[in-house]
Amino acid sequence: MITKPKGCNDLYGIDAKIWKYVDLVIDSVMEKYNYNYIRTPIFESSELYHRGIGDSTDIVTKETYDFKDRGDRQMTLRPEGTAGVVRSFIENKMYGDNLPVKVYYNGTMYRYERPQAGRERELTQFGMEILGSDDPISDSEIIAAAYNLYKILGIQDITLEINSLGDKESRDNYRKALVDYFKPHISELCDDCKERINKNPLRILDCKLDCEKDIFKNAPKIIDYLNEDSKKRFDKVLEYLDLLEVEYEINPSIVRGLDYYDHTVFEIKIDNDKCLNLAIGGGGRYNSLVHQLGGPDTPSIGFASGLDRVVLALKDLDVYLPIKKYLDCFILYVNEEEKKHAMFLAQQLRISGFTCDTEYTGRSLKAQFRHADRLKSKFLIILNSDDLNNGEVKIKNNETKEEELIGFDYVVFYLDEHLPDDSGFDYRNYDGIPYDNKNECNCEGHCSHNCNKH
Ligand code: HAM
Repeated sequence: MITKPKGCNDLYGIDAKIWKYVDLVIDSVMEKYNYNYIRTPIFESSELYHRGIGDSTDIVTKETYDFKDRGDRQMTLRPEGTAGVVRSFIENKMYGDNLPVKVYYNGTMYRYERPQAGRERELTQFGMEILGSDDPISDSEIIAAAYNLYKILGIQDITLEINSLGDKESRDNYRKALVDYFKPHISELCDDCKERINKNPLRILDCKLDCEKDIFKNAPKIIDYLNEDSKKRFDKVLEYLDLLEVEYEINPSIVRGLDYYDHTVFEIKIDNDKCLNLAIGGGGRYNSLVHQLGGPDTPSIGFASGLDRVVLALKDLDVYLPIKKYLDCFILYVNEEEKKHAMFLAQQLRISGFTCDTEYTGRSLKAQFRHADRLKSKFLIILNSDDLNNGEVKIKNNETKEEELIGFDYVVFYLDEHLPDDSGFDYRNYDGIPYDNKNECNCEGHCSHNCNKH
């Protein structure tokens, strides 16, 4: 049997439904915040990631999928979305009078990591970027949008950890302090960190091998090296977050694993024992990246969230989602004549907006009833040649088991009158419980939603 590559997943069944729902909420929230969808290629020239993310980062040195195409060009499957968005911003000359450019993306990324639950080699990230604003209003908007999105999805217990890496002067001073601190301990460091100390000392701080050692815990913190301007900027971001009622913790250890960051950096985790202790999202400001990749000076900030982790969390936390788990109607038939009516009626109903299915494998009528139950069909339409000759069909409410004969042409109106209206989804009115299911919430009166048990 040929199996899927390690660290990759097939998406189907209920997970696929949850995923599509998450996509829907993302699109809906992004529309309200006025971010435009952007799609960039899944592979780009390797140079983009070397120059963008940084030659000495773990992502570039250990995790990229690199290959030569048939024209001998060195390519890399994208390990993240920001570098591609910046490349596109420059190449398509999106700069000019229209700044800031606010975009979001949602697609697969590739990192050759050691797979485990929530750590995939093919992962999906949703991300948003504001290019062309240095004002702390953009930092707070990105962070608040991420925070609100998780809450709207029903992930309530989240911890937002924030830090500042300051401007270049602050980081230069900090780098020097780190080298002075680690040099006397060089023999205690892993081989990678021995190299990092000269090339890129900040990267020592995200070493996965050494991070539990005491020398790491006592290392100098960037926050103590911020100059006056950087400190003031960070305070402003925090002031705006307070205004937007976004709760945060300052974590001076956050440096992030990509080289392009300055000033604000942040990570979001789920604060619940049922969930993996992994970040569901992270981001920060990258004021030099656009210039570094050949564009004009364009201060920018962004965020990305791993959707594999979001979907896992929604399942682990048992969040009630407004996913339609039933079918509006199933059409049963036995002979060829009835089958043609079934096909025609199914098409009419689907075009009118109902979910509808019918029989495809020649099952007996009894087996079709069982199949309709498995599909959780609310109504059954049972076709029979005698009824059809009279222009009628039998319709059965599969919950109450009540049956009646109605006109063939009346089925659409009948279902319209008898089915709950749950078409369309507007997150502004969404409290986590679908309207016709408020009695089904599993809570004992303590859920964060407004279900009928409160
Ligand atoms: P990142 O922290 O590398 O940042 O990734 C963002 C999120 O992607 C993580 O918080 C995590 O949820 C998810 N993620 C990362 N690696 C994996 C994996 N192997 N399996 C599953 N999920 C994963 C970035 O990628 C930046 N581009 C974020 C950004 C946007 N900064 C500015 N703009």
